[in-house]
Amino acid sequence: MRQKVTVVGAGNVGATAAQRLVEREIADVVLIDILEGIPQGKALDMMESAPVEGFDAKITGANVYDTSEGSDVVVVTAGLARKPGMTRDDLVAKNSEIVAGVVREAAARSPEAILIVVSNPLDAMCEVARRVSGFPRERVFGMAGILDSARMRWFIAEALDVSVESTHAFVLGGHGDTMVPLPRYSTVAGIPITELLPKEKLDAIVQRTRDGGIEIVNYYKTGSAYYAPSSAVVEMVDAVLKDKKKILPCAAYLQGEYGMTDVYLGVPVKLGRRGVEEIIEITLLPEEKEALERSAQAVRELFSILKV
Ligand SMILES: NC(=O)c1ccc[n+]([C@@H]2O[C@H](COP(=O)([O-])OP(=O)(O)OC[C@H]3O[C@@H](n4cnc5c(N)ncnc54)[C@H](O)[C@@H]3O)[C@@H](O)[C@H]2O)c1
Repeated sequence: MRQKVTVVGAGNVGATAAQRLVEREIADVVLIDILEGIPQGKALDMMESAPVEGFDAKITGANVYDTSEGSDVVVVTAGLARKPGMTRDDLVAKNSEIVAGVVREAAARSPEAILIVVSNPLDAMCEVARRVSGFPRERVFGMAGILDSARMRWFIAEALDVSVESTHAFVLGGHGDTMVPLPRYSTVAGIPITELLPKEKLDAIVQRTRDGGIEIVNYYKTGSAYYAPSSAVVEMVDAVLKDKKKILPCAAYLQGEYGMTDVYLGVPVKLGRRGVEEIIEITLLPEEKEALERSAQAVRELFSILKV
């Protein structure tokens, strides 16, 4: 029997993630949205692509949570996306209400599930999901670092004209303007990019990574990125369901790691069937540590205005 993933939010990120999950037969998917007909229509449309694409995983759409019962993983993408001129933080009030409602419903029906949060502002929405579900921190974490590093990897590959597969990038911190890309730990075939690119180019890549979300928002105008975000979600679901124990940057709840407590922050974790099985601590230079602390401070400020 295939494992079961509920994706809440049948918008751009949710529907694309659902599509990638069934096309790769990673799990059967229940797609949920408040919009009547949208999850049902998208699910049927995807099933009708199955004979051509050649997958047997099933996807069903719904407006209520009954069919999500017993899910192994719940992915939360419900919420509003950023519009031009809007920061992720502007979304906090509206999306915390939405995420709290979604998690209440989903967690009650799948008490053993792993919750992967995508809705923005990411680190604050992870905290909403943790508080509302009451799940242990191992089972409530967020997607951001894989996306931010994937962006950085593409910029590195483009700059050096090498395969994206030979690149590795390291991005820590909150998923916002204070994220901390680390060129020192970013490599091409194991060689730090600090040895391969001049400082101006490195600085430009770091800045473009930080602005990666808004660059796409400025193109789309009415929404935000979803192809790369949905790929990142699927890598996390896959790592969990296949117990891969992959080391991936995720938004995890820190309790002492990196000298911080009670805050969600992007850090490298070991992702397996139990969720965040370990938080990997790497040695940081004083200025990197400072940048991480600034990032944590920005996240804490959002926590302080949460109403759940
Ligand atoms: N963490 C990241 O790196 C990252 C990347 C991209 C997008 N996001 C965030 O993910 C979220 C979704 O982005 P999107 O582009 O898919 O947006 P979208 O507008 O295309 O989709 C959001 C969907 O959520 C649904 N929704 C709203 N309230 C709901 C509720 N109470 N229950 C169920 N469904 C509900 C909407 O009807 C809509 O279909 C946004 O908050 C966005 O900022 C995060």
